[in-house]
Amino acid sequence: MPDTSDESLGLQPYRPDEDHAFPDERVNDVLEFVGNDAEIQAYLEAQNVNPVSRLRYNDHGTKHVEIVRDRALCLYDLLKRGGVAFNARDQGLEEADEAVIIALAATLHDIGHVVHRDRHTYYSIPLAADVLDRVLSGFYDVGAALRVKGETLHAILCHHTAETPLTRDNSIPFYPHHVLKEMVVFPFFFLLLVGIVILFPPELGEKANPLSTPEGIKPEWYFLAPYQMLKLVPNKFLGISLQLVLVGIFLLWPFLDTGREDNILKRPLMLLIFFGSLVIWTILTLWGKYS
Ligand SMILES: [Fe+2]
Ligand SMILES: [Fe+2]
Repeated sequence: MPDTSDESLGLQPYRPDEDHAFPDERVNDVLEFVGNDAEIQAYLEAQNVNPVSRLRYNDHGTKHVEIVRDRALCLYDLLKRGGVAFNARDQGLEEADEAVIIALAATLHDIGHVVHRDRHTYYSIPLAADVLDRVLSGFYDVGAALRVKGETLHAILCHHTAETPLTRDNSIPFYPHHVLKEMVVFPFFFLLLVGIVILFPPELGEKANPLSTPEGIKPEWYFLAPYQMLKLVPNKFLGISLQLVLVGIFLLWPFLDTGREDNILKRPLMLLIFFGSLVIWTILTLWGKYS
């Protein structure tokens, strides 16, 4: 029988008894409560009917939530060990509440599936709000419960990629983290490239004759499409401008395309543009090669 234990599957279960880089007493109490709560457990089973039984989609029930929660708490632990600051304290909450927010958001993030798979994030919000009111009242006073609830709902909402999280926790700032990383990685790759060039020097072709320009110089294959495009547009200025416009559209695309649908299969226009460009590019490349 195949080994399906969490470890063999590469899963890292959250173990309440282990040492963590964060105060874990409160989250352990909440997790124990959640594990014994009939309503939450019923939700986790019921939320799998629409995605799995009806849509033949992947698991979004009890096991999925367990994996998501384990990973979220594991990532949180790693980030805390790395000294990353979380900002639930903007809300006047305590450090011990951070893990509670993460655990509850992971537990309840997909309960909107009981309504519908599409836009389930938005259905999760009112359903989770009711559950949170009940659960949190057992652990917090009115004010703290409301703030933990707000942060948890924020996390649930932002598991939909179209929503932008407003907490600092969602990302590591570009400066200085990524800049420093680039400064370390760049010399490494640069030296690697220099090493390759020294070990395998590129061969030079025939010596050029400055008095005769060879006819029909063809660029490398990856430039054949723009090369052919330039040949097709009679006016050189127009040809160059057209290429600049295309590159501009390519660079600006993430800002122009702000649609909320992530699934490309549900976006026929997008599919048409993608495959259309691919076909045109291939035709131009072949045309450039054999013309
Ligand atoms: Fe999910
Ligand atoms: Fe989801």
